[in-house]
Amino acid sequence: MSRVTISAIKADVGGYVGHGDVHPDMLVEAQRHLNQAMLGELVIDGRVGACGDDINYVLTHEHGVDSAAVHGWVWEAFESLTEVAKRLHLYGAGQDLLADAFSGNIRGAGPGVAELEIGERPSEPFVVFAADKTEPGAWNLPLYKIFCDPFNTSGLIIDPKMHAGFALEVHDLVENRVALFECPEDLYELLVYIGTTGRFVVKYVFRRGNLDEPVAAASTSRLSLIAGRYVGKDDPIMIVRSQSGLPAVGEVLEPFAFPHLVAGWMRGSHNGPLMPCSMSASQPARFDGPPRVVGMGFQLADGKLVGPRDLLGNASFDRARQIALAAADYMRRMGPFEPGRLPMEDMEYTTLPVVEARLADRWKTLEPTGATA
Ligand code: F6R
Ligand code: MG
Ligand code: MG
Repeated sequence: MSRVTISAIKADVGGYVGHGDVHPDMLVEAQRHLNQAMLGELVIDGRVGACGDDINYVLTHEHGVDSAAVHGWVWEAFESLTEVAKRLHLYGAGQDLLADAFSGNIRGAGPGVAELEIGERPSEPFVVFAADKTEPGAWNLPLYKIFCDPFNTSGLIIDPKMHAGFALEVHDLVENRVALFECPEDLYELLVYIGTTGRFVVKYVFRRGNLDEPVAAASTSRLSLIAGRYVGKDDPIMIVRSQSGLPAVGEVLEPFAFPHLVAGWMRGSHNGPLMPCSMSASQPARFDGPPRVVGMGFQLADGKLVGPRDLLGNASFDRARQIALAAADYMRRMGPFEPGRLPMEDMEYTTLPVVEARLADRWKTLEPTGATA
């Protein structure tokens, strides 16, 4: 087989109950669509998954990234899932389908997309991570650790094939620009940006010197920037290839043993720990959260998907879950105060500015004090 594209595409098209889960009937409908697609030429293989209230497809095909045919098919599938959600009066039916009609590319239309086209290696292990109640910048810290930090990835030191390091492509979601950072040389410059997780996000990771074939890809859509108002969080998805000159599966999973704080919990307006979860227990509960992530491990076999294996459900992450719950207790006690609650700028499209506008008359301008004539 020549080249294969892996597409991981997710959307929230209806929650059960509230913003908590995907209803079983939606999973059945998603699988029915997939079975039809697999009968034809469109996809080689596919899987239906979920994290919290987000449903996802992991697809393999030969149409390349941004394929109108593949994206169009996914759009139709999400539309028919929306019909199921409407029939059951599920919550927020169709909420991530922001465009009225499909216009050739699902990017920027609402659903989150991570895609990469690769020449399949003799053995091709990769992990698809899906997160709920957070935003694409949540991947910045783990991607940094996986590809740039020898304290996480000892292969950067030990494996001669990784010694040259990796290049990270960062997108500025506010000013719509892109920059490449070649690490380790550019480590400090990279960190200047990707610590600002609401604005700068890692989109692709490449081996140094091979910018044609990404080794990781992440979704970067920010729904509020597309819709111009708050319409829900942009729960992200990403694909990370592994082994044989790339970080080992254990190095790819290791960052999730630390439940770092991310934005997006409750009303997209609070910070909380990113809790690793099993694929079967990824449903948010407490305060609509805490934010969570699942890891689906696959091997490719001539474009066919072998898996998924549930990677973060493993007992090795039990302690991370406990730390996340302790961090959740701690952050919750902040209530509506920063940094439990996000800063006002990051709530630009939420209801708080509306409340603020209503109180505008209550604020009187103070005369400058201490001014000398
Ligand atoms: C949605 C989310 C939830 C909602 C909250 C309020 O992904 O994070 O916390 O923001 O449940 O939802 P509405 O305003 O729809 O009642
Ligand atoms: Mg939802
Ligand atoms: Mg969600």
